[in-house]
Amino acid sequence: MARRALVAGNWKMNGSRDSNASLIHDIVLDVRKYPDIDVLVCPPAIYLESVGRQLEGSPVQLGGQNLCEQEKPGAFTGEIHGGMLRDVGCSHVIVGHSERRALYGEGDDRVAAKFRTAQICGLIPILCVGESLAERENGQTESVLARQLQAVLDRCGIEAFRRAVIAYEPVWAIGTGRTATPEQAQQAHAFLRDRLARSDAKIASSVRILYGGSVKAENAGALFGCPDVDGGLIGGASLKSVEFMAICAAA
Ligand code: G3H
Repeated sequence: MARRALVAGNWKMNGSRDSNASLIHDIVLDVRKYPDIDVLVCPPAIYLESVGRQLEGSPVQLGGQNLCEQEKPGAFTGEIHGGMLRDVGCSHVIVGHSERRALYGEGDDRVAAKFRTAQICGLIPILCVGESLAERENGQTESVLARQLQAVLDRCGIEAFRRAVIAYEPVWAIGTGRTATPEQAQQAHAFLRDRLARSDAKIASSVRILYGGSVKAENAGALFGCPDVDGGLIGGASLKSVEFMAICAAA
């Protein structure tokens, strides 16, 4: 099945009002050259509204980097409800990024709860999964991916993947300059799709699986050329418009 590519920029904790305005200006100008792909930017929460305003009238979509797992708003100081992300124009939200898992103690259950809340709020979750270097070296890549995916399947069911995106992000490739080879990426993506296919082959063949981890203009073409790689979740390279648009061109 032909899946439409998605290139998503995760700005992480970077940017300023001025740098965001300049970056979005360039992306909006250039994006119309690529009508066959979806492009998404995920700025820090505090800038979502201003970036969203600048994106009005453009096909570039807006996403959050995180949300609170609570299904209802309330007394949760410092948290952001999924409904608030929708309110400022987000269509997507990243859940389970390895930085949240490793630095903020988000385990599989909490990630699954966030995935569910995102959907309840009308957002498309981008579920990040991926193994550490030690796990890869110990031959645990597939068991880690299976566990991370299964936690969401157990809580939300296979139907939930009709409106979801998966991002395979090997932790050892994030921000390190060490990208997975196209063969490694394809193997992991095919494994994830196959796990979903055990429950529903049609949903498995339609879900978009992005690759993330040191994607740059120079390696994007080879990665996106893999049959089960449907685009990328881009960190550092999404902060430079020329590089980000070159990655979009490769999708
Ligand atoms: O969310 C994006 C990933 O963590 C990849 O980051 O492209 O800087 O390696 P990176």
